[in-house]
Amino acid sequence: MDRKEHWETVYTKNDDTQVGWYQPDPETSFRLIEKAWPGTGAVIDIGGGTSHLPEKLLDHGYNPIAVLDISAAALAKAKARLSHRADLIQWILGDITQVTQVGHFDVWHDRAVFHFLGALSDRRRYVELAGHTLPKGGRLIIGTFAKDGPPRCSGLEVCRYDAATLAAEFDPDFRAVDETSHLHHTPSGKPQPFIFLTLERI
Ligand SMILES: C[S@@+](CC[C@H](N)C(=O)[O-])C[C@H]1O[C@@H](n2cnc3c(N)ncnc32)[C@H](O)[C@@H]1O
Repeated sequence: MDRKEHWETVYTKNDDTQVGWYQPDPETSFRLIEKAWPGTGAVIDIGGGTSHLPEKLLDHGYNPIAVLDISAAALAKAKARLSHRADLIQWILGDITQVTQVGHFDVWHDRAVFHFLGALSDRRRYVELAGHTLPKGGRLIIGTFAKDGPPRCSGLEVCRYDAATLAAEFDPDFRAVDETSHLHHTPSGKPQPFIFLTLERI
């Protein structure tokens, strides 16, 4: 099964409140965005899936907001949930390793997407796109499974990071400015240690 097929199946077959990464309130992501870019600003959520981050950003005045995901089913569910407010979001269907441009944003956010990129060439393309998308001084906020996190997510192998190895992936175009450890609990109660890093585009 290829990458897109995998994610379409996940979102078609599962209730989005039952997937392991579900969180009713993306408070860690939001707190980090607010800290990195206080006030308002343009935010893109990479692999946003059905996350509740877009409505939280809208509520706090961030604008414009874009959500990119490889799964049409995920974006359709997120749009349905946002109802009339869906029109306030730019929805981008695509594989982050294939897309060549997404526009320009102040903040790039990614929770649990980069860690699926096992191939160095995919990670290089991701970092290159982030570099073109953010201006100097822009912020990239990324959350992956930590070194002591599970080896798989959604049945797929993941790369696990600490702050130093994650920062190294973005060198030399970004420098780390903040790091946070976060313990996520899946809907079935399993703990998943995350590392979140905030990087500045230099
Ligand atoms: C573990 S989920 C996290 C979803 C969301 N970030 C959250 O915190 O709820 C990973 C998401 O990344 C998307 N995804 C996986 N690989 C991708 C890729 N190569 N390009 C774009 N999206 C991708 C999946 O469809 C899924 O929505």
